[in-house]
Amino acid sequence: MFLSIFLSVIFGCMFCTKKVAKNPALAYSDFAILDSCLKTNHVYYKNDANLLLPGSVGPHGNFKLRFNAIASKALTDNGKLPVGKTMPDGSLVIKDIYSGGNIALYAYMYKVKGSWLWGEIKPNKDIVHSVNDNIGVCTGCHSQAGNRDLITTFNFH
Ligand code: HEC
Repeated sequence: MFLSIFLSVIFGCMFCTKKVAKNPALAYSDFAILDSCLKTNHVYYKNDANLLLPGSVGPHGNFKLRFNAIASKALTDNGKLPVGKTMPDGSLVIKDIYSGGNIALYAYMYKVKGSWLWGEIKPNKDIVHSVNDNIGVCTGCHSQAGNRDLITTFNFH
């Protein structure tokens, strides 16, 4: 009797402390990625900090493109990702979308476990597209011909 109470307490505690499995992709919050976007140590595409014009189907307007250190190391084909290659895990690609000389929106792709997380967030923390939202709207257009690991700027610049 005493033993069974003892055991049920032990097992009960094992269950109550059991960790709930988490989708690792969801461990990245919109605001954590915004913090990364706000950093100033990223590398501009082709080391050029001038504004770029959108391509024929670009939905955002004028922009600058930045890569974190992990991503920039993969850009070995004249500043582009070589055809057929993929960006390594931890790559962050940030599209700074400008309006009147200021950044109005960050659109980003962040590589986790071989897949991109997609999001759009304003510098004031307004979330336009959460990392947890359906990515089909982004990937549908980014799958266009000529993309390299779903990156499309290389088609136009
Ligand atoms: C209608 C097509 C279209 C849709 C939808 C779209 N994009 Fe893009 N995106 C582009 C194009 C084209 C570029 C290349 C730069 C340009 O022309 O503006 C681009 C560039 C980017 C870049 C810079 C890296 C790259 O691929 O060149 C990021 C980051 C990005 N988009 C994020 C997003 C996110 C996040 C979404 C979904 C919320 C999204 N995009 C939806 C067309 C699209």
